Amino acid sequence: MKDSFGREINYLRVSVTERCNLSCVYCGKTDCDKKENELTADEIVSIADAFVRCGVTKIRLTGGEPLVRSDICSIAARLRGLPGLGTLALTTNGVYLRQYAADLKAAGVDSVNISLDSTDGSTYRKLTGADVLHRVLEGIDEARRVGLSPIKINAVLMRGVNEDSAASLIDLAREQEIDVRFIELMPFSDAGEDASRVVTNDELRKRFSFLRPLGVRDGTTELYTADGFRGRVGFISPISHRFCHACNRMRLLSDGRVKLCLGDETTVDLRPLVGKREELLRAVRSCIRNKPAGHRFGEQAQPHGLNRTGG
Ligand code: 5AD
Repeated sequence: MKDSFGREINYLRVSVTERCNLSCVYCGKTDCDKKENELTADEIVSIADAFVRCGVTKIRLTGGEPLVRSDICSIAARLRGLPGLGTLALTTNGVYLRQYAADLKAAGVDSVNISLDSTDGSTYRKLTGADVLHRVLEGIDEARRVGLSPIKINAVLMRGVNEDSAASLIDLAREQEIDVRFIELMPFSDAGEDASRVVTNDELRKRFSFLRPLGVRDGTTELYTADGFRGRVGFISPISHRFCHACNRMRLLSDGRVKLCLGDETTVDLRPLVGKREELLRAVRSCIRNKPAGHRFGEQAQPHGLNRTGG
């Protein structure tokens, strides 16, 4: 269904947990061991079902890190069974992907986005707090092997931290059928608040001028390619080029609240309505109608980190 600005809302991001096994410097996480308040699988499925009834055709499972939930494959399989759902996707840091890829595929997950900000082990450790780059790379290989597709890599560059990693990340798209997407740093943590750390996508396009625009967008991503590339390079520019007018998404937080916009702190708690089908549907419709026109980054206190919203 359409929101009050005429945008078709057809994409729901479902954060299944706030917990995460990494602590990335830009994330702004709060308490990542907290399991309390997490929706049960039943609750997730019934809220997602209401969204699908209201016209959502794509669901992405996120976190936190969704693969720290031991029932993630059963959640995926149950969502897959919702009539009307088209794409089921998952965003992960990739650390547990090698173990889970085959089961996720069997559960009906179509595609995965993997967060990877450097292919250099020591930079990766500095950014994430964990020495696990090799596991992420193995996870990517396994995802490809079991046929999860497409595979996309999300990278956030920070000046003075990992901006040097851009070239080798772009090389992944040269060598493999993978989209590597650069997401501009958003203000979710003290590090993210520091505007001097933002590496804008315009700057990257200048630096890697051999990339040429494909003239197509994939949602919020502008796609580029170059001679000899098997994959593509994407730019997601929430800071330098607002794309709120084209926003088609809503976010379910792991405690049952719906966030109407990533850059606005308004939430609506749907958990008390689970089991009350009509009321739940009405509440979902009203969430969609009330989606704000655009994000308010920079106008309000630091928003919650992506551990809560999964990006
Ligand atoms: N700015 C931009 N992107 C971020 N992500 C996490 N925190 C930030 C931030 N402050 C990215 C992650 C992941 C995606 C879900 O969001 O790297 O790829």
